[in-house]
Amino acid sequence: MTGGLPELEDLLAYTGSLDGRRVLVRCDFNVPMGDGEITDDLRIRAALPTIAWLRQHGAQVVTCSHLGRPGGVPDPRFVMDPVRRRLAELAPGVELLENLRFDQGEIGNDDRFVSQLVDGCDAYVNDAFGASHRTHASIVGPPARLPSAAGRLLSAEVGVLLGMRDAPNRPFVAVLGGSKVSDKLGVIQALLDTVDALVIGGGMCFTFLAARGSQVGDSLFERDQVDACRHLLESGATIHLPSDITALGPGGVIGDPSAGGEVRQVGVHIPEGWMGLDIGPGTAAQFSDVIAEARTVFWNGPMGVFEDPRFEAGTRTVAGAVAECRGFTVVGGGDSAAAAVKFGLADRIDHMSTGGGAALELLERGDLPGLQALRGAPNA
Ligand code: 3PG
Ligand code: MG
Repeated sequence: MTGGLPELEDLLAYTGSLDGRRVLVRCDFNVPMGDGEITDDLRIRAALPTIAWLRQHGAQVVTCSHLGRPGGVPDPRFVMDPVRRRLAELAPGVELLENLRFDQGEIGNDDRFVSQLVDGCDAYVNDAFGASHRTHASIVGPPARLPSAAGRLLSAEVGVLLGMRDAPNRPFVAVLGGSKVSDKLGVIQALLDTVDALVIGGGMCFTFLAARGSQVGDSLFERDQVDACRHLLESGATIHLPSDITALGPGGVIGDPSAGGEVRQVGVHIPEGWMGLDIGPGTAAQFSDVIAEARTVFWNGPMGVFEDPRFEAGTRTVAGAVAECRGFTVVGGGDSAAAAVKFGLADRIDHMSTGGGAALELLERGDLPGLQALRGAPNA
């Protein structure tokens, strides 16, 4: 067992043999889609080591996952067919159930739905790191009923993230972006106890800048979080905020350069009618210096609206600095992972986490509902 979690080997020892046994494997195949096609199959490829190990031991593997947020009813936009096709290419002959969230019992963690899931199965493996912060039926239900184990991906994610949190090489720098402070306040508070410096960009930087007395114009801004941000800034922790911003003027449309609107570098006071949408070049350089000195980096959340070429420079520069860093680098979360892929840097990141919310919650609390459930399994 690693970190108190039963591993695949423990499951094998407990059951004596997996030969011919039906093993339910919860995966996180919640992959990004565009026009009905998978745009990044990282989460499917990441489950392959577990699937391969189980099949080498003779198991009949039945995978299951959610896809999107269909709201408890079948919805043609969220059928598993594209995932099933990709999985058939990567691991021919592996079964995949229909989207778990087509049944309300999944999110509701209904006993009835758990019974339906485990029916006919001899064992359960959780390899869905990205969904293990959810108290959903397929995550917390089966381990109470079947001999269970953490899959390879789940174990690796937990090992890397908790190792980074609890025993980082220093300096340890966390780079946080993304749109909402309110989503990240908990993890920021937890990280401040362990990091040497926190670097803040993305939409959430404006609430911090406002807490320091900046005008933020029409930028994203959470008024009810200003006091919390001020509190963090006054805590004595090393927090780096932007010193310049790339902003879009009146009439401009995010994601549509043809709509016009002026784009300009401003300082930390953003004029009325203007929207800050990326960190400026001075800030990107300053953040890169901090990252270069680090021996452990955790990056979650883009620095700007990088899907729009006018506002990608900050994220590109920071992603490059993370890739260049000599230290151990971890990228967590869909958007920052997508940015690393877009800029061709994913191969130069030491650990690309498959979890966004799950990674943040694990760093914040040191545990997840899915891990607790595995520790309560009959064989644990
Ligand atoms: C994710 O993509 O973050 C996970 O698959 C969890 O999905 P959810 O946020 O819809 O629960
Ligand atoms: Mg490195």
